[in-house]
Amino acid sequence: MRILFVAAEVAPHVKTGGLADVAGALPAALRGHGHDVRVVMPRYRSLRGRLPAAGPVAATFLPVGTRAEEMRVWRAGGPDDPLYLLDIPAAFERDAVYGEPDDDRRFILFARGTLALLQHFREVEGWLPDVIHAHDWHAALVPHYCRTTHAYTFGRIAQVLTIHNLAYQGRSNPFTAVLAGLGEGAPVEDRLGPGIAGSFNFLARGILSADVVTTVSPGYAREIITPAFGEGLDALLRSRGDRLVGILNGIDTHGHDPAADPALPVPFSAAAPAGKAACKAALQRELGWPDAPRRPLLGIVSRLVEQKGIELLDASVPWLVHQTDAQLVVLGAGARRYQDALRAHAVMHPDRIALRTGYDAALAQRIYGGADAFLMPSRFEPCGLGQLLSLRYGTVPVVRATGGLADTVREGLGGNGFVFHPFDAGHFRDALWRMLQAWRDEAGWAQLRDRGMREDHSWHLAAGQYAVAFDVARRDAATR
Ligand code: ADP
Ligand code: GLC
Repeated sequence: MRILFVAAEVAPHVKTGGLADVAGALPAALRGHGHDVRVVMPRYRSLRGRLPAAGPVAATFLPVGTRAEEMRVWRAGGPDDPLYLLDIPAAFERDAVYGEPDDDRRFILFARGTLALLQHFREVEGWLPDVIHAHDWHAALVPHYCRTTHAYTFGRIAQVLTIHNLAYQGRSNPFTAVLAGLGEGAPVEDRLGPGIAGSFNFLARGILSADVVTTVSPGYAREIITPAFGEGLDALLRSRGDRLVGILNGIDTHGHDPAADPALPVPFSAAAPAGKAACKAALQRELGWPDAPRRPLLGIVSRLVEQKGIELLDASVPWLVHQTDAQLVVLGAGARRYQDALRAHAVMHPDRIALRTGYDAALAQRIYGGADAFLMPSRFEPCGLGQLLSLRYGTVPVVRATGGLADTVREGLGGNGFVFHPFDAGHFRDALWRMLQAWRDEAGWAQLRDRGMREDHSWHLAAGQYAVAFDVARRDAATR
């Protein structure tokens, strides 16, 4: 199958969260199954000069509202793993990936640019995808254009949209429809009922237009068709019936291998786990603490946003400090209020709590490698990669039972981690307490850790499931 993969962030080039990990690894796994995959992403300012690229291979102007913006296309990657960079200075010549006041305009241009790239592929390279695989709201207008304004040229291409996080929908006002060249007002959204009506919604249009919609775990696929998790789109998602499927994410097991991770001071593996103790000691020293093998070291690597349950952590730190002997290191980027709350704890208890802010890929690996346990008290979690990376690095996850966390972590010494249910600090602390008790049982803990490290969370299985979803989408597209 020829597949065009459309994403706003792709690891290792640009990353703010798990979407980039998926976009970095899934195309390779699909190629491993014999598919011909091209990836397209924006060329952000940070990539200029850092990611060698040939070109421009195409240049054109993209319509947006009453203006036209310049685009040049660059080609990076090797002959077998092409990566197309859309260089649209009006949209992407800046540092931020998202969160700009004109995000609607920026990602209209990204979708328009992808359409122009398709045109180039067809006319110049004689290549047209069988399937477009678009990710999140940033790419969701691609299937929408292909099924509406561009149906004549691209209507037979199968469209698959993957939702990585329903909390981000690309909602704006109906004027965005004019910018996008999609008419006046938002009749599409107006049909979707209160909450959605009266706005323009990138993701809703993608969900309506795609042949198949996937999300990143079976658990989250079940949750988002309920009002509690549907973020206003549950009725629309329910209406897609069996064309909505959950496919559990994998992780890049080659790039994340404790036996060969350049970020770790000492390699280790399930068969030879001894090096993990040295990684822990090195991490403690790095944080300014003496080596303390008898103290449990807990870690967090996370975006600091509402989703991640930082309130539960904030409420539990005093207990952790006074009632246990654990140490905690948090690496996080995001909301100031969470940074401030965590910093206050670190200042009060510098020998027990460490906070590192910003994005630091190497420190993240040292935490996965060096901590005893990894905490994810998420309010909701579409899949979660942190717990999968932790399992691979012998770091026992303590998670809230939601979305992909519930699908991947099983409670207790007979399972692979610790799980709590209601979203409150008391239940979180109970789970931490169970984990700390289990940690004292050296032999039991070693087995627990070993079981997690031996689990297979590679992309192989998921790539096969995506291929099935692509086939379903192709059949639907062929019969329309
Ligand atoms: P989300 O995509 O919601 O942020 P995931 O658990 O799916 O959550 O993926 C998060 C990814 O981003 C993981 O690879 C994690 O290691 C990484 N990450 C998150 N915050 C940071 C940070 N501050 N520095 C480095 N890596 C981070
Ligand atoms: C989103 C979700 C996260 C998921 C990631 C990759 O950012 O928040 O749970 O693992 O996408 O699919």
